[in-house]
Amino acid sequence: MGRIGVGAMAVVGLVAVAAVAVAGVAVGRSVRSRRRWRRVLGVLRELEDACETPVGRLRQVVDAMAVEMHAGLASEGGSKLKMLLTFVDTLPNGNEKGIYYALDLGGTNFRVLQVQLEGRRSSIFPPEVEQQPIPQHLMTSTREDLFDFIAASLKEFVERKEVSFGYSPEKRRELGFTVSFPVKQTSVSSGILIRWTKGFAIHDMVGKDIAESLQLALARNGLNMRVVALVNDTVGTLALGHYHDPDTVAAVIIGTGTNACYVERTDAIIKCQGLVTTSGLMVRFKFTVVNMEWGSFWSSHLPRTSYDIDLDAESPNPNEQGFEKMISGMYLGEIVRRVILRMSQESDIFGASLSNLSIPFILRTPLMAAMHEDNSPDLREVDEKWREMLEVPEVPKKARKVIVKVCDIVTRRAARLAAAGIVGILKKIGRDGGSITGGRSRGDARMRRSVVAIEGGLYTSYTMFREYLLEALREILGEDDARHVILKVTEDGSGLGAALLAAASHSSTPPPNTVDSVQMP
Ligand code: BGC
Repeated sequence: MGRIGVGAMAVVGLVAVAAVAVAGVAVGRSVRSRRRWRRVLGVLRELEDACETPVGRLRQVVDAMAVEMHAGLASEGGSKLKMLLTFVDTLPNGNEKGIYYALDLGGTNFRVLQVQLEGRRSSIFPPEVEQQPIPQHLMTSTREDLFDFIAASLKEFVERKEVSFGYSPEKRRELGFTVSFPVKQTSVSSGILIRWTKGFAIHDMVGKDIAESLQLALARNGLNMRVVALVNDTVGTLALGHYHDPDTVAAVIIGTGTNACYVERTDAIIKCQGLVTTSGLMVRFKFTVVNMEWGSFWSSHLPRTSYDIDLDAESPNPNEQGFEKMISGMYLGEIVRRVILRMSQESDIFGASLSNLSIPFILRTPLMAAMHEDNSPDLREVDEKWREMLEVPEVPKKARKVIVKVCDIVTRRAARLAAAGIVGILKKIGRDGGSITGGRSRGDARMRRSVVAIEGGLYTSYTMFREYLLEALREILGEDDARHVILKVTEDGSGLGAALLAAASHSSTPPPNTVDSVQMP
C-alpha cells in the first residue's frame, strides 16, 4: 500500500473516531435531556396529585365552610371567616326614585357612577360611569392623599354630569360607597377597615372609619354629598341580583379577589345579638345580609401545595386570605409562574432565563387564561404569549403543552374550590337539598330555586374556569339538585348595587320589599 493509501486510512480512522465521539456526546446530551424532561414531568405529576379535588374532598370543604360559617356567627374571632354584619336589611325592589351616585373602590381602578332611578326596574339603565386608575403611589400612601384624589375626581364628575340641568353646589347628593375590602360595619353607612387586601397598604386607614374618611375628603373638596350606604362589592351584587330576581340568596365575586355574602336569619347572628336588639333596625326584620369575607376561609381539607405555602409566606399578608390565594385572579398566574420556575430549574426547555421567570407576578392571570384556552393545534398563542412575556425565543411544542397543563391544573382546582364554597353557603342556609349531608341523600329535603348572583372577571371572562366551576357544582349536588341552583351573572353590581342600596336606605318610609321577602327555609 502506498503512502497515500496509508494516509487516507489514517484520516478515515480519525474521522470515524471523531464521529463516534460526536455521536457519544450527542447520545450523552440526549440522555441528559431525556432525564431532565422526565424530571419536568415528575414536577407536573406531583402538582397534579397535590391539587386533586375529587368530589369526596370537595364535600369535606363544603362541610368545613358550613361549620366555619356557624363558628364565625357564634363569636367574634370564632373562625377565620369574618362573617360581618352589614346592617343591610332592606334590599332595593324597583320602586326607588331619584338620582344617586356610587363610588366603587376595590382594585387598581376606582369608578364613579350616576344612576337615575324612575321607580321602574327597567329605568335604571344605562348609568353614567367613569373609571380611573389609582396612581400606584396612592395605593400605599395616606388615607388623606387617597381620598382627596378620589373626592376631587368625584367632584369633577358630578359637575360634568349635572351641567345639563344646572349644577348647584348647595344641592345635597346621596352616595353609595362600595369598598371591596374587609370592613366591620358599625351602621349601614359607616364601618372600620379591618385590613387591606389585593396589594393596597395605606396603613393609617386600618382601624379607622372608611366612610368618614371619604366624607371628610368630600367636605375638604367642597362637594355636598353624603355617604348613605357603605357596602362591600358582594353586597352590591346581591342587591342588584335581588332587584332583578327575588330568589337571589347569595352573591359571589370571583375576580382579582374573591368573597361572598348571603341572606341570613338575624337570630342566627349570635355574636351580634346585643347590637341586633339595640339597633332597632334589626328588630324589624327576620333576615339580614352577612359579608362572609370568605377569602380568609381555611380548612385542612384544602389541597395546599408547596407553591401555595411559598406564595403565602412571601406575600404582604402571610397567613391571611388563604382561600383567596388559591382561587382569585390576583394569584392564579403567580402560582403557575412558580411551578414553571421550578420546572425551569430542571430543564431549559421553557426558553426562559431563570432571572426572567423569577419576577413575581410577571405572569398575570388574563395571560394565563389566554394560553390555557389556546385551541390551535400547535399552541401558537401559548408560544406567542410566552415569548412576549419573557422575551425568549420559540418554545418547543412539548413545553407549550406542559404550560397549558399547569394552567389547567391550577385553574381547575380554583374553580372546584369556589364551587365547594358556594355549596357550603347553600348548605348553611338549608338550600343544598340535603344531598351532601353526611355525603348521603336526604330524600325528604325539597330543593328550592336558589339564585346566586355572581360577578368578577375570572368567572365571566375565563370560560374554562366557569365550566370547571359549574361541573363541580353538578358533581357535588348531583344533577337533579344542581338544576335548582342558578348562578346568574349580574352586571356591575358593585357600582349599580351601591347606588340602589343608597336609594333603598335613603327612602324615608320602609319599602314593602325587604330581605324578609326572600323566602328562607
Ligand atoms: C376583599 C373582599 C372583596 C373581594 C372581592 C377581597 O380581597 O377582602 O372584601 O369582596 O376581594 O373584590
